[in-house]
Amino acid sequence: MKTYNIGVIGGDGTGPEVTREAIKVLDVAQHKFGFKLNYTNYDFGGERYLKTGETLPDSAIEEFRKQHSLFLGAIGHPDVKPGILECGILLKARFALDQYINLRPVKLYRTEDCPLKGKEPKDIDFVVVRENTGGIYTGVGGVVQKGTPMEIATQVMVYGRPVVERCVKFAYDYTRRRNKKKMLTLVHKCNVLTHAGDLWVRTHKELGDRDYTDIKQDYNHVDACTMWFVKQPEWYDVIVTENLFGDIITDLAAIIQGGLGVAAGGNINPEGVSMFEPMGGSAPKYTGQNVINPIAAIAAAGMMLDTIGETQAALAIDKAVTGSLNGGKIKSLAAGKMGMGTTQVGDLIAATV
Ligand code: IPM
Ligand code: MN
Repeated sequence: MKTYNIGVIGGDGTGPEVTREAIKVLDVAQHKFGFKLNYTNYDFGGERYLKTGETLPDSAIEEFRKQHSLFLGAIGHPDVKPGILECGILLKARFALDQYINLRPVKLYRTEDCPLKGKEPKDIDFVVVRENTGGIYTGVGGVVQKGTPMEIATQVMVYGRPVVERCVKFAYDYTRRRNKKKMLTLVHKCNVLTHAGDLWVRTHKELGDRDYTDIKQDYNHVDACTMWFVKQPEWYDVIVTENLFGDIITDLAAIIQGGLGVAAGGNINPEGVSMFEPMGGSAPKYTGQNVINPIAAIAAAGMMLDTIGETQAALAIDKAVTGSLNGGKIKSLAAGKMGMGTTQVGDLIAATV
C-alpha cells in the first residue's frame, strides 16, 4: 500500500479545529482509496513562541524535508506582534522548502455565497498561480537615517529569469492539465514596472510561443484585473502573477468565491515538499466554539492529495464538498452562521467522500 508521511501543523486559534475536520475527511479518503497517511504533529505557532521564543527552528525544516507533504491549519496569535509568526513560520517554511508556487483555485460553489450580482458557479471558476518566494517578499532593500526626517526605506521587487521561468512554466503546464479555456493570463504592471514587468512579459511570451502553442496568451495589468474580477470573472481560466500582486488579488478572489471559509491554497514545490493551508487565518475570537467553517481546510487537504498523486481521492473530496454545499443543509459559509457546527460540517462531508 502506498504510504505518505504528512507533517501537520494545526497552529493557532481555530487552526487546530479546522485541521481536525480536514484529517477526518483524509482518513475516510485513505480507507476508501487504499493508501496510508502517517501523520506527525508539530506544535509550532503563537503559544509555543510565547513559551519558548521559538518560531520554526532549522531542525524542524530538516524534519519537514522527510515528509511527503505538510498541512498547516493557521498561524496568528493576538498576543504576538504582527510579522513574527508570519515571517518566522509561514514565510520561513515557504523559503526554506522553496515552495515557489502559491496555487489558489477560485471556485464559487453556490450562487447565494457570491457577493457579486448575477454571478453563478459557472462564472467563477479560475485558478491563480502566484509566484511564492520572490519579488518584494525576498526582503532585499534597506533603511537609512531611520527615525530622522530624511529616512529612506526600500524594498525591492527582485526577480531573476530562472525564478520567473519556473513559475510561468508551472502555470502553462497547469493550464494544459486543467484543460478548460486553455488560456493563461499574465497579471503584472508592465506599463510602469518596465524592468521587472518586462521580464515577466517576455518570459510568458517566449515560453508560450516555444512550448505551449495550444495555450492562449492573455495579459492584464493588475489594477484592471481587480476590476475584471468583479465585473467579468468568467473571463479567466488560469492567472500567473508575481508574489505581492498575487497576494492582493487572491484575497479579492476569495471574497467572490464566497469568503475565507472556502478558500484553499497550496504552497507548492513541484520537486519537493509542499504545504497546504486554508486561507482564512487563525480567527482567534472563534476559538473553541465549534463555529468556524472547516471547508477551506478540507479543500486544502484535497489539493494535497492531488499533489502527492492521489488524484481520484482528491476528486472525491472535491465532489463531497460541492455536494454537501448544494445539499441545502449548510446555511451560510460564514463562521457562526452555517446552521451547524464545525464538526458537523466535517461529518457531513466525510460521509459523502
Ligand atoms: C497569504 C498571507 C501571507 C502572505 C502572510 C500571512 C505572510 O497573506 O498566504 O496570502 O502575504 O503571503
Ligand atoms: Mn495574503
